[in-house]
Amino acid sequence: MEKVVQTLAEFEAEAARFAGSFVRHKEVATLITLSGELGAGKTSFTRSVAKALGVEETVTSPTFVLEKIYLLPPGKNFKRLIHIDAYRLEKGSTLAPLGFDELMQDAGNLILLEWPERVDEVLPAPAKKISFLVSPNGARTISYD
Ligand SMILES: Nc1ncnc2c1ncn2[C@@H]1O[C@H](COP(=O)(O)OP(=O)(O)O)[C@@H](O)[C@H]1O
Ligand SMILES: [Mg+2]
Repeated sequence: MEKVVQTLAEFEAEAARFAGSFVRHKEVATLITLSGELGAGKTSFTRSVAKALGVEETVTSPTFVLEKIYLLPPGKNFKRLIHIDAYRLEKGSTLAPLGFDELMQDAGNLILLEWPERVDEVLPAPAKKISFLVSPNGARTISYD
């Protein structure tokens, strides 16, 4: 599925729609990968998903800390939103230092991962792959597969 949005407000609305649309895995965490060049909207998308799921803290880019974990309010499909940015990892790195394998074992975890290309050799199959493409006029094409 593909969606073209023009403004940041439309982009945020699309992320919120997505946040309400997916089903939780029963056995393992739900992994969603976010691809696209710097500034394409991966972090903004995560911020809007977090907001839609009830996170009140400000979601900032985890580029330097690599990983941030947000607790979700009770009554949601998930217990935690985990935001990982693999940008600073070298191609072929593992996610072991982030405790990724353990995080994947908990079905209460929703994991949004930026720059999956850096770690694709060690990544389990994601539930959803999302990619973001910026047009010269600033519009974003969001593709889901
Ligand atoms: N239509 C739009 N959709 C998404 N982001 C937009 C849009 N227009 C402008 N922006 C801006 O583009 C930037 C996207 O940055 P960010 O989400 O950090 O990208 P990434 O994480 O992919 O590097 C933000 O500063 C955001 O405000
Ligand atoms: Mg980012």
